[in-house]
Amino acid sequence: MFYEEVPEGPPDPIFGLSDAFNADVRVNKVNLVIGIYKNERLESELLSTVRAAKQAILEEDGAADYLPIDGSKAFLEQVGGLLFGEALWGASKGRIYAAQTVGGTSALRIGAEFCSAFVGKKFAVSNPTWPNHRQVFEKTGVVETYSYYSQRERRFDLSAMLSGLKALEPKTVVLLQGACHNPTGCDPTADEWAEIAKTMRERQLMPFFDVAYQGFGRGIEEDAAQVRHFTKEGLECLVAYSCSKNFSLYCQRVGVLFAVAPDAAVKQRVGSQIKRVIRTSYSNPPAHGARIVQHILGGPMRRDWRREVDAMRGRISEMRNELVRKLALRCRGKNFDYLLPHQGMFSFIDLEKRQVARLIEEFGIYLPDSGRINVAGLNSKNIDDVVEGLGSVLE
Ligand code: LMR
Repeated sequence: MFYEEVPEGPPDPIFGLSDAFNADVRVNKVNLVIGIYKNERLESELLSTVRAAKQAILEEDGAADYLPIDGSKAFLEQVGGLLFGEALWGASKGRIYAAQTVGGTSALRIGAEFCSAFVGKKFAVSNPTWPNHRQVFEKTGVVETYSYYSQRERRFDLSAMLSGLKALEPKTVVLLQGACHNPTGCDPTADEWAEIAKTMRERQLMPFFDVAYQGFGRGIEEDAAQVRHFTKEGLECLVAYSCSKNFSLYCQRVGVLFAVAPDAAVKQRVGSQIKRVIRTSYSNPPAHGARIVQHILGGPMRRDWRREVDAMRGRISEMRNELVRKLALRCRGKNFDYLLPHQGMFSFIDLEKRQVARLIEEFGIYLPDSGRINVAGLNSKNIDDVVEGLGSVLE
């Protein structure tokens, strides 16, 4: 009686397609949809450091108390050092508020609610972006886009982005992806980030970073360079951080919302409001995943974990190189070198929607209709099928 008027909602563009993949009975189907790192056997296995940390914290994990509203201080201390770098974190943490969140998505949502109440109700995301960015920000305000990617040149387009930023109203909250841009795989260089920071300051735009892939692009330090640059330059910003990918802790929902403030007094006020948003949302975060991350980063396993991240990054880059090499052989006269500089798990392949539909229907190769592929969904067994499918629809 109460639900009669409820209409059917649309399927999620990413999770909905994964459901369709799971329901497909073809044995040689290939899943290039969701951004989950897969090993050569196409499993999303626990990292060995995560497995060892789980064993080590068994005792401590027995504690059943609530965490504080903004989570475990020891965990936040470790992730703060990882993102900002120990020296900058040490020098700046007096003005950086941090709250443990339920994955990166709730950091985005909590940050968006905070901004909507105290900064402004206008948000801007890159065109294109991760579809959930728009959905999250639409809950708290009006969402605009700024140009980011040149379809014609198949690369990041700085001048288009800067003109897009200049057209936004002051106090617009601008979502910036730290590294490994989702879905294009195209990132600005350090010099380009410096230009972006300058424009954001001049136009009084509020930077809101989404850092979900630290270590998957060029390296742990390199992938955090833009957040560190903005912080050193004294820009106020928010950062939504996810440990899903680099700790392979997808189902544990481990994230952080950082708010970089000008001084300790502002940090205190900002933190007090963010805590109120959290308290009315999920009250306080879950403990298990954060204890794992804290154990790894705060002890001798940290070195081994960095090696595991390096190995994941290495496999992604090998698969991308192999894809480009094989596509060039299959599609004589076509050049796929534009995929080579892409960073992280995703690459944007130049495909029309009808070509993506053919890949799914005829070849069982699943990817979102944007043409984004998860390169980590490739292995030595399925890559030839993917190249054949792509070659056929691109003919
Ligand atoms: C993706 O873009 O596939 C990932 O970030 C997973 C998700 O939540 O959509």
